Amino acid sequence: MSHAEDQTGSRRDFLYYATAGAGVVATGAAVWPLINQMNPSADTRALASIFVDVSSVEVGTQLTVKWRGKPVFIRRRTAEDIAAGRAVNLDDLIDKSAENQNRPEAEATDENRSLDEAGEWLVMIGVCTHLGCVPIGNGAGEFGGWFCPCHGSHYDTAGRIRKGPAPRNLDIPLAQFTDATTILLG
Ligand code: FES
Repeated sequence: MSHAEDQTGSRRDFLYYATAGAGVVATGAAVWPLINQMNPSADTRALASIFVDVSSVEVGTQLTVKWRGKPVFIRRRTAEDIAAGRAVNLDDLIDKSAENQNRPEAEATDENRSLDEAGEWLVMIGVCTHLGCVPIGNGAGEFGGWFCPCHGSHYDTAGRIRKGPAPRNLDIPLAQFTDATTILLG
């Protein structure tokens, strides 16, 4: 495969997942695939890690990218979001697990859910843990986080299930900052 063909295929595999209809704010940050020197098949590439440029994500907005066939929410939280998330008592949570692949076994504190120490960044798989709808963000629902209108699940500002039929907090995938403005998923 030529370099040009590879680029085209890669872009097709990693198009933005920017659905304004679901209340998602996509801010135009760039997503591009990790170049795999082994020249893998399309199936393998779909499973690959991706870098996400979050330099243009404003406080109080969410970028949604498609990764491994699912939407991933990257939310840059406000000070109010963080304070609200950190004020919650663990006893009030339906799911007491952080559901964070970066911190297996951790409790569902706000600190254990956010990506950075200050708690500004929250990265989650944007799939309701009830039956798989994509929740609405931007402070939706009774707990100021996300709301899944399919059957009425309310998630708080840390993406934790607080009310409704969903059994688990929104899942947090393997993620890390590789520099000040780049997040690596996977
Ligand atoms: S799929 Fe979200 S509440 Fe049922």
